[in-house]
Amino acid sequence: MSGHGDPIKMTARKSAPLQGTAQVPGDKSISHRALIFGALSVGETKITGLLEGEDVLDTARAMRAFGAEVTQHGPGAWSVHGVGVGGFAEPEQVIDCGNSGTGVRLIMGCMATSPITATFTGDASLRKRPMGRITDPIALFGAQSYGRAGGRLPMTVVGARDPVPVRYTPPMASAQVKSAVLLAGLNAPGQTVVIEKIPTRDHTERMLRGFGADVTVEQTDEGQVITLQGQPELVAQEVAVPRDPSSAAFPVCAALIVPGSDILVPGVSQNPTRNGLFITLKEMGADIEFLNPREEGGEPVADLRVRYSALHGIDVPAARASAQIDEYPVLSVVAACATGVTRMPGVHELRVKESDRIDAMARGLEACGVRIEEDEDTLIVHGMGPGGVPGGATCASHLDHRIAMSFLVLGMAAQNPVSVDDATPIATSFPIFEDLMAQLGASITRDTH
Ligand code: S3P
Repeated sequence: MSGHGDPIKMTARKSAPLQGTAQVPGDKSISHRALIFGALSVGETKITGLLEGEDVLDTARAMRAFGAEVTQHGPGAWSVHGVGVGGFAEPEQVIDCGNSGTGVRLIMGCMATSPITATFTGDASLRKRPMGRITDPIALFGAQSYGRAGGRLPMTVVGARDPVPVRYTPPMASAQVKSAVLLAGLNAPGQTVVIEKIPTRDHTERMLRGFGADVTVEQTDEGQVITLQGQPELVAQEVAVPRDPSSAAFPVCAALIVPGSDILVPGVSQNPTRNGLFITLKEMGADIEFLNPREEGGEPVADLRVRYSALHGIDVPAARASAQIDEYPVLSVVAACATGVTRMPGVHELRVKESDRIDAMARGLEACGVRIEEDEDTLIVHGMGPGGVPGGATCASHLDHRIAMSFLVLGMAAQNPVSVDDATPIATSFPIFEDLMAQLGASITRDTH
């Protein structure tokens, strides 16, 4: 539950070369799903490497509220005694998903086809985010939702008593929407089908199969057709959560822009639905080596050796947006430190993330002396070249972990310190960010009042 404590201002200063190994925490998307799928299974799911960020802890609490037994045994080591598909109990209290869009949207999906009622809320950021993208498809299964104007939280969902299967084409590229529909389909009879025009992260499909569901994926003229056979018995699994490529992005980008840096980031996912940033950085001239490719926790991973690089701006293909959707904030920082212009089209979904990330990055970068152009769907950064960003501003993080971390990365390479007004949201996805970056040699301080 982020955003409840006092804000903590943090400042990053021009850093000495970053050196050493960055062991980033477990993947946020996979951590949410490990808890949720464990709760929907029969037996005891054992999880290692779970991300213990606030978003995931909120999902753990929610799974307890729906009747699963969720226990922490040690750092990253958790177990879930599930209630089985269709076995969710009605929560006694409001479910607070904190800052997590993934948590609330996936959980709404999985309770929507059970005859129970639940009320969801979240922090000030989550209460601004659109839930219509979930309430529209779950209505097709027979669920009813009552929320605030504009489909905002708090919201009560009345699950369908006699759910029917659904064939649904999400109007936007969203793994959360795809996953919510598939999770709702678990407790509906027959086949539930999601048609994705643009493929998004595929952890739900991979993991559902791992837990014993029958999920097929077919490429057709309509797009990618994902078919789930309803009412499977999901069977508890052992889940080793791989490290989060979206967290790895921060030390990787910092090393690229801090002169003299040379770091190793082990076990970074190369899942093609998640690795867009690394392809983009290579196109910008980044010196990244992909060492020791292997499989970990069902995901292709590699160890990344990253050295400081003189980067140049590029036109980032819009078609790559969904494979790097969470990485645009830190990519725009890298673009500011590159030579020439970087154009990032096809990014309108950034407007409805934890904050309006186009606006948050544009305003903060401008305050740091960088020229920006933007429209509803595009961010254009006029790079100032290595060492060229003046910095010297305090940027608003808008309750958004990735905005806060991005500006701190900028401060490591800018001429003058860069501060964020509130670094507390970082704990939602990367609670060890400050320590990990300090170990690499970054200069980040907390400003005490
Ligand atoms: C996520 C999907 C993405 C991403 C989010 C995690 C997921 O959101 O931004 O951080 O785990 O399914 P959208 O589905 O809104 O694109």
